[in-house]
Amino acid sequence: MSSESRPRVFVARRISEASLERIGRQTDADVWADDLPPPRDELLRHVDGVDGVLSMVTERVDDELLERAGPRLKVVSNYGVGVDHIDVAACTRRGIAVGNTPGVLTETTADFAFALLLAAARRVPEGHDFVREDRWKAWSPTLLNGPDVHHATLGIVGFGRIGREVAKRGRGFDMRVVYYSRQSAGPEDEARLGARRVPLDELLAASDFVSLHVPLSPETHHLMNRETLGKMRRSAILVNTSRGPVVDSDALYEALQTGVIAGAALDVTEPEPMAGSHQLVSLPNCLIVPHIASASFGTRAKMASIATENLLAGLAHAPLPACVNPEVYAPHT
Ligand code: DGY
Repeated sequence: MSSESRPRVFVARRISEASLERIGRQTDADVWADDLPPPRDELLRHVDGVDGVLSMVTERVDDELLERAGPRLKVVSNYGVGVDHIDVAACTRRGIAVGNTPGVLTETTADFAFALLLAAARRVPEGHDFVREDRWKAWSPTLLNGPDVHHATLGIVGFGRIGREVAKRGRGFDMRVVYYSRQSAGPEDEARLGARRVPLDELLAASDFVSLHVPLSPETHHLMNRETLGKMRRSAILVNTSRGPVVDSDALYEALQTGVIAGAALDVTEPEPMAGSHQLVSLPNCLIVPHIASASFGTRAKMASIATENLLAGLAHAPLPACVNPEVYAPHT
């Protein structure tokens, strides 16, 4: 293909070499080389006139961006499963297919939610700091005690792919598992996962650990607020690997500081990124890591591969292997 007939694409970060090579063989690719995301003005400049965009959670894809890209744009392929940063309806209106990477990060994210749960309960980061700060002088029966995880009650809010995998991990620790979801998982899955569906209030009142697995939407924005946090047990720990704004950060700070709940472990935050000077970061009972739940070598390679498949399919006017807005293919009436 001559470079004139090759589609032009913008890739918003360096992804796996294998995927970049594949994209480079079939397109005229402009790859953002920096580890930090393109500033908004650069992003808009780089998408001008492209046929495809491979974006991340850090790139807001809205009307302004779509307008700037122009009429050639056929596909927005997101490297990640969550698409709350993409105006999917605006893409659909313009006939632009949107792809994401479901499935491949389910188990890795569930592993990480459980890692956060265990680390917060058993005070792993505090123990590490204790040794690093040379405060370890002797074994002590009272040093860094925390709640047991095994046989505790695990409340899972949102029972999609990731929530269900977290339930499996909970069962492995002999936990009682309850879940809250608009839809029932059905008797078979409930029996297989040993999970019982309950109303949200009941889940919050019963759970020693509450793990969030809902997508961000107007309904789930600040789902955990002063009122809902107040319904949790004083001994409970909140784990968030979903999206930062599902939890009201100010309300969480107040709840952690005043003992309304015992602890929190966050992979995602509001705002994101969270500055080291943020009030939540100063709390010893709040563990915060920088949105890395899907960051395993294998999973990131698979995410790159699916995002590449989606991008190339969209450029070829073929259905995306993982499409968020399949209605884009519906014949116009
Ligand atoms: C996802 O896949 O949505 C992760 O949060 C990274 O964007």
